[in-house]
Amino acid sequence: MSYSRIIGTGSYLPERVMTNQELERIVDTSDDWIQARTGIRERHIVADDENCGDLARKAALQALDAAGLTPEDIDLLVLATCTPDRVFPSTACLIQRELGMPAGSIAFDVSAACSGFIYALDVANRFIRTDGARRALVIGAEAFSRILNWEDRGTCVLFGDGAGAVVLEASDSPGVLSTHLHADGRQEELLYVPWGVGQGYDHLDSVSGKVSMRGNEVFKVAVRTLGRIVDETLGANGLERGDVDWLVPHQANIRIIAATAKALSLPMENVVVTVGEHGNTSAASIPLALDVAVRDGRIQRDQIVLMEAFGAGFTWGSALVRF
Ligand code: ACO
Repeated sequence: MSYSRIIGTGSYLPERVMTNQELERIVDTSDDWIQARTGIRERHIVADDENCGDLARKAALQALDAAGLTPEDIDLLVLATCTPDRVFPSTACLIQRELGMPAGSIAFDVSAACSGFIYALDVANRFIRTDGARRALVIGAEAFSRILNWEDRGTCVLFGDGAGAVVLEASDSPGVLSTHLHADGRQEELLYVPWGVGQGYDHLDSVSGKVSMRGNEVFKVAVRTLGRIVDETLGANGLERGDVDWLVPHQANIRIIAATAKALSLPMENVVVTVGEHGNTSAASIPLALDVAVRDGRIQRDQIVLMEAFGAGFTWGSALVRF
């Protein structure tokens, strides 16, 4: 059985930047409150004529370029998103067509909210390890602003739009050392979008199609759960806390990130933090942060990188990678 290895990373952020000061004019909030509670200073927002698939395609092209490959070289595309362009076909199929990947190559979406990229990476890694694919594009992309209630200060200040991508290739050595996925649907009401297409459009009003979150309760579960996933990942690989070179966490809140770094005994200099400039971009946040730290030269080949996420579902998971 072969392993899979990340051979290229890419990302894309929409041009429009929305600052906390701009949000002060939309809802009853302040730059001080947002920065103190979350670490967020600004976020990017899609243009009216831009969709999740557009962001994903641009991130994918950059990852392919970094890998020295073209779309014809790819036989699997897995896109993590909870803001797809259409009900169907999957946004992955639309991107496959736009990129000019071979007809007949595999393409599908994965839905696991903020944990989506970890889920997608796990799936693509298993395809490669069992000879179902040789080269995979794994993308996390969100037009999350489309499902925000811009009158709810408890959620609209937290999220942003963007996309990140990696190219995975079959390899004789890892690569992806281990992945760990979990879900528990029993606390759905703490974080969800009440409306879904299955309910029919008669039930869609201006609020029911938007994110609803009991943030403080989610916060407590997230901190507890991410502490456990760190232990699970280290234990599965026979590693000690000091053995990880980089933490690339899901970027929901600087306080959650700091708590996870503490659980790893990792100084914040070894944690990739983009939440200040990106906000929470859901499934896009980990590959976006990874690409930033690869391009600025912090993450080097052969270093041990731990990625972890927690999101709606609840879903949570981690991936340990020798980069
Ligand atoms: N500006 C000013 N005040 C606000 C704002 C705002 N934008 N939002 C809430 N407040 C107020 C509240 O009304 C409350 O006021 P009160 O004390 O008078 O009732 C006060 O601030 C404190 O509210 P809390 O919700 O207790 O604040 P907390 O410190 O928990 O921070 C936050 C809120 C940032 C949402 C935090 O709980 C959090 O990050 N939660 C986790 C989010 C997360 O990780 N989600 C998972 C991934 S997302 C996904 O999967 C789609």
